[in-house]
This record gives sequence, structure tokens and C-alpha cells, in this order.
Amino acid sequence: MSYYKVDNLEQYFKHYNKSVREPRKFWDRIADENFTWYQKWDKVVEFDMQEADVKWFINAKVNITKNCIDRHLAKRGNKTAIIFEPNNPDEEAQHITYNELYDRVAKMANALRKQGIKKGDRVCIYLPMIPELAVSVLACARIGAVHSVIFAGFSASAVAARVNDCEAKLLITSDGAYRGSKTIELKSIIDEALKTCPTVENVWVVKRTNTDVKMVEGRDKWLQPLVDAEDANSVAEIMDAEDPLFILYTSGSTGKPKGMLHTTAGYMVYSAYTFKNIFAYEENDVYWCTADIGWITGHSYIVYGPLLNGATTVIFEGVPSYPEFDRFWQVIDKHKVTQFYTAPTAIRSLAKEDWKWVDKHDLSTLKVIGSVGEPINEEAWHWYNDHVGKKKSPVVDTWWQTETGGIMISPIPFVTPTKPTYATLPLPGIQPVLMDERRNEIEENQTAGSLCIKFPWPGMARTIWGDHKRFKETYFSTFPGKYFTGDGALRDEVGYYRITGRVDDVIIVSGHNLGTAPIEDAINEHPSVAESAIVGFPHDVKGNALYGFITLKEAGAWRNQDNLIKEINEHISSHIGPIAKLDKIQFVNGLPKTRSGKIMRRILRKIAEGDFSNFGDTTTLLNPEIVDEIKEGRIN
Ligand code: WT7
Repeated sequence: MSYYKVDNLEQYFKHYNKSVREPRKFWDRIADENFTWYQKWDKVVEFDMQEADVKWFINAKVNITKNCIDRHLAKRGNKTAIIFEPNNPDEEAQHITYNELYDRVAKMANALRKQGIKKGDRVCIYLPMIPELAVSVLACARIGAVHSVIFAGFSASAVAARVNDCEAKLLITSDGAYRGSKTIELKSIIDEALKTCPTVENVWVVKRTNTDVKMVEGRDKWLQPLVDAEDANSVAEIMDAEDPLFILYTSGSTGKPKGMLHTTAGYMVYSAYTFKNIFAYEENDVYWCTADIGWITGHSYIVYGPLLNGATTVIFEGVPSYPEFDRFWQVIDKHKVTQFYTAPTAIRSLAKEDWKWVDKHDLSTLKVIGSVGEPINEEAWHWYNDHVGKKKSPVVDTWWQTETGGIMISPIPFVTPTKPTYATLPLPGIQPVLMDERRNEIEENQTAGSLCIKFPWPGMARTIWGDHKRFKETYFSTFPGKYFTGDGALRDEVGYYRITGRVDDVIIVSGHNLGTAPIEDAINEHPSVAESAIVGFPHDVKGNALYGFITLKEAGAWRNQDNLIKEINEHISSHIGPIAKLDKIQFVNGLPKTRSGKIMRRILRKIAEGDFSNFGDTTTLLNPEIVDEIKEGRIN
């Protein structure tokens, strides 16, 4: 029996205990029995958690695309690997078989090599949710180029910051993107971004919307003719286990975005193992995750995890509300989806609509439904369980992070129980702990604390690209020797975990991780703004929304408040993207500060929430009088 799959509760505990007692043996067996290697490892893991140095499968050689594609061809060559469901329901869906996926990846891999892209070079990908996005990712992995997918909702300057940070040589984009009833001109965003990106030598452009674009001579090329000219055969690069696979940027509580680096073998083993167990995947299932490949969820659970298991994975270009509020349910019905994985914000927004939208469609093929990205509230959990899962498909509330590479805490369907709002139990192989304020590990149950992981796991990020010091400080210093997640959690009487939210200055809006600092930096660049502080407040659909407290350089500027609010939001849109816009803006005469000059966000958070009780001791503030003034001016 392989440790790859857990079949019942008894086995879960057996595997779990074994994975804690003998983690090396546990992972050794999973890696050994379920993948194709050029060469196996000398040692399973080497680590120094104080220094944030972790390596898995030392000296093993592998190529992840051989495991995602080649090894399936003999048995599953004609099986559908990818179902592409376009934005427009009248456009025909595409079924791409494993054979066809091989051809497309091989051709693009060859074209990349011809373009001079070599192992270790960085390629940024800024594409809508179309098959070329998955193909580009895999083609990079085939030749050992490091892909960095940038979510195609980011603005030009956010793109430029990422491209420059990883010093990409090539950027792959499209003429435009369809999103519901809108068409977005992606190429012109890239043209704007690349004005400040000296490392980019070429831009490849996928034709999707037939939008007019300006092609820069010598730099820009249409993708299709490049791949058409290539052979459908391509030798995979032999990669060391610890060679970089991809960089994915995530917001931090301070400064610029963090380029989380994931490496080859550990990520492969972890994304495959978690996919199989958490979605109870079986041959012939049709699996659909609605995330964007621009986020880690799409990397691990649209592309790599499913393909490593030889699954059929749906890529959906559109949005849940287009053309109507039943698009998700219609697509599940149409493609006979068996596993459905989405975000609480989508669930909440659809739960606001009449549930008749759901009932119009046959969802009887569903076996497992999942949630990811933020805590799922009780009401949304029940709506999802009742109307979508029909109380028969377990809801897997999966807790994890860009940094963890794959799901860490989650029910295993048909094996471990679910509990509303609880991510429940760690996967075998994962050792979560709760830490108290004095930095001690809390042993007992029915308690709350800071969530840490005390032993390495194969899927964990290895560093922040170009800044190992920041990696160590952010994740391994608060609780020395442990990985600190930045989340708070509680543990119930039986040991189930419930994630309560961030304990740092990261705010999750509609499942998007937003750091307060970059938003404040963007606002502060407005010529009228002196200072700003952003906090989150509870929102029905988005989970959290953003509330900005802003001081102006000149009190006179108050007269044009509406214009100013518009301008500030435009600033945020162009620096970060529309996802970071503020829901409420309050102009204030000052921000509450400690004597050392630190903004007291705790107080602002309470005001934003409308909770005027228990501000704690405000006498230590430099300017306690400002608190009443801010309370009075609160935006409802
Ligand atoms: C943060 C990570 C994991 C992929 C998508 C987000 C929050 C994520 C849950 C959950 C409660 C959750 C945490 C985490 N989060 N899943 N099931 N329950 N909170 O990845 O952008 O790296 O964000 O999302 O706060 O730290 P990310």
C-alpha cells in the first residue's frame, strides 16, 4: 500500500503518526512510488530551519513535464487533459488530449529554445485563462526556464515591478482578454509596462480577441507562427531536484511583492500528493478549479497537481456572473464535473442570488466541493453544502498559502470529517503548531494562537527571489526554528483547526492577498496626500474590504473630495490593479500614533468596523484627541 493515498480514518491516523515519527521515510516512499525520475536522491531532506535553508530529494534528477505528460501517453494518450471552457458560452469548448498537450508543449518548448531561452532564464507570462497559459507554463518547465505568471488583472506598473525583480528575458501575453462582457487590452498594458523593463528582449503575443495591437519591430512576435514552425518533439531538460521551477509574487505587509521561489522535485511531489487526496481523485473524474493560473491555486490545482495525476482539468476563461448567475452550475452540468474548487467570495456572491439558479442544473456528478483563499463563514459554508453539494459532497475547506506550495490543512473527503468553518486536520506529512504570545508551543486543545509549521515539507517555498534575508526574517524569525504562516488559528476540543485570519498587515479582499504597505505607497504618491493608513473591514461578499484613512498636505484640498477620492482610486488602480481599490475613504486631520511614530492600526481597524468599544489604552498615544475626531467622521 502506497502512502500516496489515504483510504479511511484509521489509515489517516496511521499515516499521520508515521509521518511525524519518521518524516523522511514517509516522503521517501511517496516520492519513490509515484513519479518518474532520471535519478533518485541520495538523501530525502536537509534543513536548517533557523537559517531558512531547506532542500528535498538531494541530487535527484527529474523533469516535472515528463511526469505531467510523457508518462501518461502510453495509457492515456487520447484522454482529455484539458477542457477549455471559453468566456462566451456560444464559443465551442475545446478538449485537449494528453497527446495534443504533448505536441503543443513540445512545439513551444522548441520555440523557446530557438528564441535563446535557456535553463534558469526567467519568462514572465501575462495571459488570460486560455490553454496557451498552461502550455506556456509547461513549455518553460520542459526546458528548465523559470516561469513567473503575473495575474492578468495587475496594472502596468505592478507588472513592471515583477518583471524587473526577476529580470525576465521574455514575456508572453495576448492581444486581449475576454472577461464577462468586457474586452481588456492586455498588450497595451504590456507595452506600457515594458517602457521600464530593460531585461525583456522579446514579447510573444497570443491572438485571442483580435484586438488591434502595436507590434514593436524586432521585439514582438505573434506566437502561433513560431510554434507552427516547430517539431512536435522535444527533449526535456534534466533538472536537479532543487533547480527553480517558478517564481510567483505575493504581497507582503511591507515593501515590494515577494517573489516566492518554488523548486522542482519537492513541489512536484507535494502538489501531486495533495491533489490526489484532497479531491479524492479517481480516473475519469472531471476536475474543475475556478481560480486563475496567475495565483498559486491555479499553479498547483489547475495545472500541476491534476496533470501529475493524469486527470482531466477544466480551464475556464470567464466569470461566475456571465452571461448569467448560473454560469458555474451550467458548466458543471455541461462537462459533468466531479470535483469543484472555488473561493468563498464567489460562493458568497452567488449565494446572494436566488438559489433557483443552482437548481436549474444537474449537479449530480459532483463528488467533492472545495473552498480556498480565506476563511469561509458559517452561512456560506452551509449554502455551499446544501445547494451545491446537496449535503452529499463533502466540502473541503483547504487552508494553505502561496508559500506552502500546496494544501496543508483540509478534510480528506470520505476519510476525515468536515466541520463548518474549520479546515480541520493537517495532511499526513504536515506538522502544524499553535504558538502563544511568549513564543511557546501550546500543547492543549481548545485554544488559539499563531499558526506555525514545525517540520519542513516538500512543497514549501525555498526563498524569496533575490532576498533570502527577507525570507528568513518574514517566515523563520518570529518563532525561531519554525515556519510562521502569518495566520492566527484556533484548535477545538478534538484538535481541528479553524483559521481565524491574518495576524499581520496583510488583508485578504475577495481572496486576493493585499499588503497594506504597497497600497499606502501608491496613495502617498498622490500630490495632495500627506499620509495614509489602510485597514480591512468585514464585507458581505468580499470577506474584507479596504478602508483608507488619509491626511492631506493642505486642508484646502478637502473641497474637491469626490474628485480626490476618484483620483486616489485611479492611482491605486494604476499602481497595483483595480482589486486594491478602497471601498471607503475618510480624510482625517491626523492618524493615531504611538510616541515612536507607529500608526496604531488596531484603533483604526475598530473604527472601520464600527466597534467603538474597548480601544485599549489610548493615553500612550502621541495624539489621543484625534481618535474622537476620526470616530465622528467615520464613513458608514
Ligand atoms: C492566505 C494565503 C492558498 C491559495 C490561495 C491564497 C488565507 C487561504 C484559507 C482557508 C482561511 C485561508 C490565509 C493564508 N487562506 N485559504 N481555507 N481558510 N484562510 O493564497 O494569496 O498566498 O494567501 O489566505 O490567510 O495565509 P495566498
